[in-house]
Formats: sequence, structure tokens, C-alpha cells
Amino acid sequence: MGPANGGAVRCMERRDPGHGIHKHPGGAVAALAEAVRSDREKGLQPCAVVATVGTTGTTALDPIEEIGRIARQEGLWLHVDAAMAGSAMILPECRWMWTGIEQADSLVLNSHKWLGAAFDCSLYFVRDPEHLIRVMSTNPSYLQTAVDKQVKNLRDWGIPLGRRFRALKLWFLLREQGVEGLQARLRRDLSNAQWLAAQVQQAKDWKVLAPVVLQTVCIRHEPAGLEGEALDKHTLDWCERVNASGGAYLTPAILDGRWMVRISIGGLTTERQHVEALWELIQREAACD
Ligand SMILES: Cc1ncc(COP(=O)(O)O)c(C=O)c1O
Repeated sequence: MGPANGGAVRCMERRDPGHGIHKHPGGAVAALAEAVRSDREKGLQPCAVVATVGTTGTTALDPIEEIGRIARQEGLWLHVDAAMAGSAMILPECRWMWTGIEQADSLVLNSHKWLGAAFDCSLYFVRDPEHLIRVMSTNPSYLQTAVDKQVKNLRDWGIPLGRRFRALKLWFLLREQGVEGLQARLRRDLSNAQWLAAQVQQAKDWKVLAPVVLQTVCIRHEPAGLEGEALDKHTLDWCERVNASGGAYLTPAILDGRWMVRISIGGLTTERQHVEALWELIQREAACD
């Protein structure tokens, strides 16, 4: 994807990483417009922009509508990464999260992450597959068949010729659970995340660090007098104790330069009682220092 003149793929640093919904979506959009302008000024040719609906760290949401407008104006390919959040788009009440998605040229969601498909099953949608076919099709004599003109030959859309039939397990999942079944499970997880966030918010010395729009809750225990590296150590220590207990597995991550702990609620069998037990475990382990 690097531009022809030797420039590299550019990762735009977002000044307002948006803890959940961007607090200042205008800032991110202005930064993108500025990045494009400055690249052009240097003789670079921007070719694509990748927006994220539900970042890995905090499930922050990029403003797809505004980014899409810039992509169109500037002639850039817009790819949307909705690896985790994409599953929630089967819920009408969540679809505002990717308002403007119709402007995307390509879109990925990982149905193995939260929808419940067995690992692995990532879905890739592309507006105009000709872009892929032009680059990746191959047509040696031994691959030609009488129905080539009637079917979509997915071998021409990517690099490997061979591929597993991943769509089959997704089809089984849809048939077995039904859309309503999948929606009910996702709503259960959303509600469990809200429940946990409410407990954390009410508890003394605990903080929820990012808006909880999906199933990820980002938290920190901040007892009086603990700051800086001492606070980081405390965070990593209690998280490690929770993980070592075998009762749950949490992932620490850095947010705004400080360690925090991510709680991702979305396992098929995770019910409210498990989240309640987790909250007790967390408080117990954090109190051990
Ligand atoms: C937003 C986001 N994008 C991409 C990925 C990685 O996806 P993949 O495993 O398909 O590379 C993740 C998490 O694993 C994610 O949360």
C-alpha cells in the first residue's frame, strides 16, 4: 500500500484517541484532513484510510461519516476495521456506531470474536471486487472450468488459491441460533458490561476509564496516594493475581500513558453470575497490596 514514490504507510496519531465515542470527533477528522494535505505537499500520494469501529484497546469509535466524506473528496480507499464491533451491528440499537458505513470500500468483521463462530471466521466485504481480481486473479489452463463465467471464483480475490470453507460454520451458526438468538446473547453481554461498569463506578477508589459502548470495560483501582509508576505496578500486580487465580483472564493495556485493565465480556457461556464473581475476585485481589 505504500505510495509509488517510496513513502511508507502512514499511521495517523490521533490526539483524541476517543475513549469510546470520540470526545472530539472533529479533532480526529481535522487531523486526517491535515495529514492528507501535508502528505500531498511532500509529494506523497495518500491512497487509503483505515477507520476503526471499536478499537482493540477501548472499543473507541472513529466517526465513519466524516472520515468517509474526506475519503471521497480526496479519492482515498476507505477500509473500515470493525473486527469486534461488527458483530453488534446485528442489533438495531447499535447501528449508530457506524453511521456512514455505506461509504466504505471495504469492511472487515471477525465473526469468531463475538458473534460466536468457531475460530477462525473473518468476514471481508468489498464494494468493487474488480480491484482484487485485477491484481490477484490467475487463470492457468488447469484451473479453467466450464462454469468460470457463471460463478464467483473466490480464488481470484486473494493470494492463496486454496481456502477453507469457513462460511459453512457461519451458516450453521445462523441456522442454529437464528438472528434472534444471536441478538439475545449480544444483548446479554452488553447488559453485563453495563452492570459491571455501574458497580465499578460506584465503588470507592475505582474508575471506569472509557465509555462502555460495547462489551469491553476499562478499569483502574486508584487508592489514595498511589500515582505514576507505583500505580502502574499496583494495576499490573492485581491483574496478574486475578489471572493467576484461574478465575478469569483479563488483559492489561496502556491508556493515556498509564496501565489499566480491560475486561472483555463476550464468552458464549459467560452469564451475569460469572461477571458478579469476577467483580468480587477483582476487588479481593486489588485489596491484597
Ligand atoms: C479492532 C481490531 N482489529 C483487528 C484485530 C485483529 O484481527 P485479525 O485477527 O483478523 O487480524 C483485532 C483484534 O484481534 C481488533 O480488535
